[in-house]
Amino acid sequence: MYLEAGLLTRRSVRQFEKGHKIAENDMKDILKIAMYAPSACNKQPWEFVVIEDEAMKNKIAEIHPYAQFVKDASAAIVVCGNEQEQCDNGFWIVDTSAAIENLLLALHGKGMGGCWCAIYPYAERMKAFQNLLGLPEHVKPNALIVAGYPIKQPTQPQDRFREDKIHYERW
Ligand SMILES: Cc1cc2nc3c(=O)[nH]c(=O)nc-3n(C[C@H](O)[C@H](O)[C@H](O)COP(=O)(O)O)c2cc1C
Repeated sequence: MYLEAGLLTRRSVRQFEKGHKIAENDMKDILKIAMYAPSACNKQPWEFVVIEDEAMKNKIAEIHPYAQFVKDASAAIVVCGNEQEQCDNGFWIVDTSAAIENLLLALHGKGMGGCWCAIYPYAERMKAFQNLLGLPEHVKPNALIVAGYPIKQPTQPQDRFREDKIHYERW
Protein backbone atom coordinates (compact mmCIF):
# COMPACT_ATOMS: atom_id res chain seq x y z
CA MET A 1 0.00 0.00 0.00
CA TYR A 2 1.28 3.47 -0.92
CA LEU A 3 0.78 5.83 2.03
CA GLU A 4 3.68 8.21 1.57
CA ALA A 5 1.83 11.07 -0.15
CA GLY A 6 -0.81 11.16 2.56
CA LEU A 7 1.74 11.03 5.35
CA LEU A 8 3.83 13.84 3.90
CA THR A 9 0.92 16.21 3.28
CA ARG A 10 -0.78 16.08 6.69
CA ARG A 11 -0.60 19.56 8.23
CA SER A 12 -2.16 21.13 11.28
CA VAL A 13 -5.42 22.80 10.32
CA ARG A 14 -6.63 25.80 12.34
CA GLN A 15 -9.23 27.39 10.05
CA PHE A 16 -12.46 25.55 9.59
CA GLU A 17 -15.75 25.79 7.74
CA LYS A 18 -18.07 26.81 10.56
CA GLY A 19 -21.19 24.70 10.86
CA HIS A 20 -19.93 21.80 8.74
CA LYS A 21 -20.78 18.78 10.85
CA ILE A 22 -18.76 15.58 10.67
CA ALA A 23 -21.12 12.75 9.72
CA GLU A 24 -21.54 10.12 12.40
CA ASN A 25 -20.11 7.31 10.23
CA ASP A 26 -17.06 9.44 9.35
CA MET A 27 -16.46 10.18 13.03
CA LYS A 28 -16.71 6.46 13.84
CA ASP A 29 -14.25 5.62 11.02
CA ILE A 30 -11.78 8.20 12.34
CA LEU A 31 -12.01 6.92 15.89
CA LYS A 32 -11.67 3.33 14.67
CA ILE A 33 -8.43 4.25 12.88
CA ALA A 34 -7.21 5.92 16.09
CA MET A 35 -7.94 2.68 17.95
CA TYR A 36 -5.76 0.70 15.54
CA ALA A 37 -2.62 2.44 16.83
CA PRO A 38 0.06 0.35 18.51
CA SER A 39 0.00 0.27 22.31
CA ALA A 40 2.19 -1.27 24.99
CA CYS A 41 1.07 -4.86 25.72
CA ASN A 42 -1.74 -4.08 23.26
CA LYS A 43 -3.69 -2.60 26.17
CA GLN A 44 -5.37 0.12 24.06
CA PRO A 45 -5.86 2.34 27.13
CA TRP A 46 -7.46 5.22 25.22
CA GLU A 47 -10.77 6.98 25.79
CA PHE A 48 -12.22 9.64 23.46
CA VAL A 49 -14.55 12.45 24.44
CA VAL A 50 -16.22 13.89 21.33
CA ILE A 51 -17.64 17.37 21.75
CA GLU A 52 -19.83 19.10 19.16
CA ASP A 53 -21.95 21.28 21.40
CA GLU A 54 -21.29 25.00 20.74
CA ALA A 55 -21.43 26.02 24.40
CA MET A 56 -18.93 23.30 25.31
CA LYS A 57 -16.59 24.34 22.49
CA ASN A 58 -16.69 27.90 23.83
CA LYS A 59 -15.87 26.64 27.32
CA ILE A 60 -12.93 24.72 25.89
CA ALA A 61 -11.67 27.95 24.29
CA GLU A 62 -11.78 29.52 27.76
CA ILE A 63 -9.53 26.89 29.31
CA HIS A 64 -7.13 26.32 26.40
CA PRO A 65 -5.13 29.44 25.51
CA TYR A 66 -3.81 28.06 22.22
CA ALA A 67 -6.96 26.54 20.76
CA GLN A 68 -9.23 29.53 20.15
CA PHE A 69 -10.03 28.16 16.69
CA VAL A 70 -12.02 25.35 18.39
CA LYS A 71 -15.00 27.74 18.31
CA ASP A 72 -15.28 27.39 14.50
CA ALA A 73 -14.41 23.70 14.32
CA SER A 74 -16.83 20.85 13.72
CA ALA A 75 -15.69 18.90 16.74
CA ALA A 76 -13.29 18.80 19.62
CA ILE A 77 -11.99 15.37 20.50
CA VAL A 78 -10.26 15.03 23.84
CA VAL A 79 -8.03 11.97 23.76
CA CYS A 80 -7.53 10.53 27.22
CA GLY A 81 -5.60 7.67 28.75
CA ASN A 82 -7.10 5.24 31.22
CA GLU A 83 -4.50 4.62 33.89
CA GLN A 84 -6.28 1.46 35.00
CA GLU A 85 -5.92 -0.11 31.56
CA GLN A 86 -2.31 0.73 30.69
CA CYS A 87 0.47 -1.88 30.49
CA ASP A 88 2.72 -0.21 33.04
CA ASN A 89 2.78 3.12 34.78
CA GLY A 90 3.25 5.94 32.29
CA PHE A 91 2.43 4.11 29.08
CA TRP A 92 -0.94 5.87 28.77
CA ILE A 93 0.70 8.99 27.38
CA VAL A 94 2.73 7.09 24.80
CA ASP A 95 -0.15 4.89 23.69
CA THR A 96 -2.63 7.74 23.38
CA SER A 97 -0.08 9.82 21.46
CA ALA A 98 0.18 7.04 18.88
CA ALA A 99 -3.63 7.03 18.66
CA ILE A 100 -3.63 10.81 18.17
CA GLU A 101 -1.29 10.63 15.19
CA ASN A 102 -3.50 7.95 13.64
CA LEU A 103 -6.52 10.16 14.27
CA LEU A 104 -4.90 13.18 12.60
CA LEU A 105 -3.96 11.09 9.59
CA ALA A 106 -7.48 9.67 9.41
CA LEU A 107 -8.93 13.20 9.33
CA HIS A 108 -6.51 14.12 6.57
CA GLY A 109 -7.36 10.99 4.62
CA LYS A 110 -11.05 11.89 4.70
CA GLY A 111 -10.50 15.42 3.42
CA MET A 112 -10.79 17.00 6.83
CA GLY A 113 -8.10 18.36 9.06
CA GLY A 114 -7.19 18.74 12.68
CA CYS A 115 -4.82 20.25 15.14
CA TRP A 116 -3.21 18.58 18.15
CA CYS A 117 -3.49 21.01 21.08
CA ALA A 118 -1.54 20.10 24.18
CA ILE A 119 -3.28 19.40 27.46
CA TYR A 120 -0.62 17.10 28.96
CA PRO A 121 1.90 17.89 30.53
CA TYR A 122 0.32 21.07 31.95
CA ALA A 123 -1.11 20.06 35.33
CA GLU A 124 -3.52 23.00 35.56
CA ARG A 125 -4.82 22.46 32.03
CA MET A 126 -5.27 18.75 32.72
CA LYS A 127 -7.26 19.60 35.85
CA ALA A 128 -9.41 22.12 33.95
CA PHE A 129 -10.33 19.52 31.30
CA GLN A 130 -10.82 16.88 34.00
CA ASN A 131 -13.39 19.18 35.64
CA LEU A 132 -15.08 20.40 32.47
CA LEU A 133 -15.59 16.90 31.09
CA GLY A 134 -16.19 15.14 34.42
CA LEU A 135 -13.37 12.69 33.83
CA PRO A 136 -12.76 10.12 36.57
CA GLU A 137 -9.45 10.55 38.42
CA HIS A 138 -7.85 7.58 36.61
CA VAL A 139 -8.68 9.00 33.16
CA LYS A 140 -6.08 11.57 32.11
CA PRO A 141 -6.49 13.99 29.21
CA ASN A 142 -3.57 13.92 26.81
CA ALA A 143 -4.65 16.34 24.11
CA LEU A 144 -7.44 18.24 22.52
CA ILE A 145 -7.83 17.49 18.83
CA VAL A 146 -9.67 20.24 17.03
CA ALA A 147 -11.26 18.79 13.91
CA GLY A 148 -13.24 19.93 10.92
CA TYR A 149 -13.26 20.86 7.26
CA PRO A 150 -10.40 23.19 6.26
CA ILE A 151 -11.32 26.54 4.71
CA LYS A 152 -8.17 26.33 2.63
CA GLN A 153 -5.39 23.82 2.29
CA PRO A 154 -2.51 24.73 4.62
CA THR A 155 0.79 25.53 2.97
CA GLN A 156 3.29 22.72 2.91
CA PRO A 157 6.66 23.20 4.60
CA GLN A 158 10.10 23.04 3.11
CA ASP A 159 11.56 19.56 3.04
CA ARG A 160 11.83 18.43 6.66
CA PHE A 161 14.18 15.59 5.94
CA ARG A 162 17.45 16.08 7.83
CA GLU A 163 20.29 13.72 7.27
CA ASP A 164 22.04 15.07 10.42
CA LYS A 165 19.19 13.74 12.58
CA ILE A 166 20.03 10.17 11.66
CA HIS A 167 22.72 8.31 13.54
CA TYR A 168 23.88 5.04 12.08
CA GLU A 169 24.90 2.20 14.39
CA ARG A 170 25.70 4.63 17.30
CA TRP A 171 25.74 8.39 18.06
C1 LIG B 1 2.33 17.80 21.60
C2 LIG B 1 1.84 18.86 20.66
C3 LIG B 1 1.20 19.97 21.17
C4 LIG B 1 0.70 20.95 20.31
N1 LIG B 1 -0.03 21.98 20.85
C5 LIG B 1 -0.58 22.91 20.02
C6 LIG B 1 -1.45 23.93 20.54
O1 LIG B 1 -1.72 23.99 21.75
N2 LIG B 1 -2.00 24.81 19.67
C7 LIG B 1 -1.73 24.76 18.32
O2 LIG B 1 -2.25 25.61 17.57
N3 LIG B 1 -0.92 23.79 17.79
C8 LIG B 1 -0.35 22.87 18.60
N4 LIG B 1 0.41 21.83 18.07
C9 LIG B 1 0.62 21.73 16.61
C10 LIG B 1 2.04 22.11 16.21
O3 LIG B 1 2.20 23.51 16.31
C11 LIG B 1 2.30 21.61 14.78
O4 LIG B 1 2.19 20.20 14.74
C12 LIG B 1 3.68 22.00 14.28
O5 LIG B 1 3.78 23.40 14.13
C13 LIG B 1 4.04 21.34 12.95
O6 LIG B 1 3.09 21.67 11.96
P1 LIG B 1 2.29 20.52 11.16
O7 LIG B 1 1.44 19.79 12.15
O8 LIG B 1 1.46 21.29 10.17
O9 LIG B 1 3.28 19.63 10.51
C14 LIG B 1 0.90 20.85 18.91
C15 LIG B 1 1.56 19.71 18.41
C16 LIG B 1 2.00 18.72 19.26
C17 LIG B 1 2.64 17.48 18.68
